[in-house]
Amino acid sequence: MSEQRRLRIFRGARSPKPEGKGGGGGELKEYIIEAGEGMVVLDAVHKIQAEQAPDLAVRWNCKAGKCGSCSAEINGQPKLMCMTRLSDYPAEQPLTVTPMKAFPLIRDLVTDVSWNYEVNKRIPAFAPRAPDKPDGTWRMQQYEVERPQEFRKCIECFLCQDVCHVLRAHGKHQEFIGPAFLVRAAAYETHPLDVADRRDFLKTEGGIAYCNITKCCTEVCPESITITDNAIIPLKERVVDAHYDPLAALWRKLTGK
Ligand code: SF4
Ligand code: SF4
Ligand code: FES
Repeated sequence: MSEQRRLRIFRGARSPKPEGKGGGGGELKEYIIEAGEGMVVLDAVHKIQAEQAPDLAVRWNCKAGKCGSCSAEINGQPKLMCMTRLSDYPAEQPLTVTPMKAFPLIRDLVTDVSWNYEVNKRIPAFAPRAPDKPDGTWRMQQYEVERPQEFRKCIECFLCQDVCHVLRAHGKHQEFIGPAFLVRAAAYETHPLDVADRRDFLKTEGGIAYCNITKCCTEVCPESITITDNAIIPLKERVVDAHYDPLAALWRKLTGK
């Protein structure tokens, strides 16, 4: 059974002029489609692209919630378009689909997320300890392996970066690496073989103190990673132990570690 759905999609391109001086711009354009059962927002966008707006720009790849490409804001909420069903929203109201707000617009629903890849390069890399055995192998307990596994589920959709007010509202892209890369740092920090010390990085370049634990990032993560409780808070504790615990500071001074 099909039904008519109204979608208001952001249309516009990056302008060389600043907003308010003839630049910025873009607008919501309404499209009406015949929607079939089980349709997701990405299907609707593709239908509009095929039938009404061939120049509508949208980024996607897997249509299975695994590549992290189709991130956008649906009725203002950061979501994957391929995992959001039209039937989750009332048919009588129009659905708005807009690009992620925390990153520069390229065109229509496509934003420039390259800043994230630059941030990723700055995180001190995984550094395994020397092998445990002469044959070059390591020994790990199952419980040790399980801890970072949650963080390895990240699909780099950057929805958590988009919702975080430090980036979205305050534009602290220079000062704060954002929840996605605190998750990445936590994946290394909790790895049973890793011996690198990222506490100085997290405190300074990482800007971990900007996070005030609002948990909005955890709410939008399509992989259900408990970003705040399992990644950010333990990292904050490590930073506090290193820099504000007087015994730890004395130990560092004495041992240089
Ligand atoms: S918990 Fe921290 S990182 Fe997550 S959205 Fe809030 S301020 Fe940003
Ligand atoms: S932590 Fe979750 S929301 Fe953030 S980029 Fe990874 S998968 Fe996306
Ligand atoms: S198209 Fe890959 S996550 Fe949506």
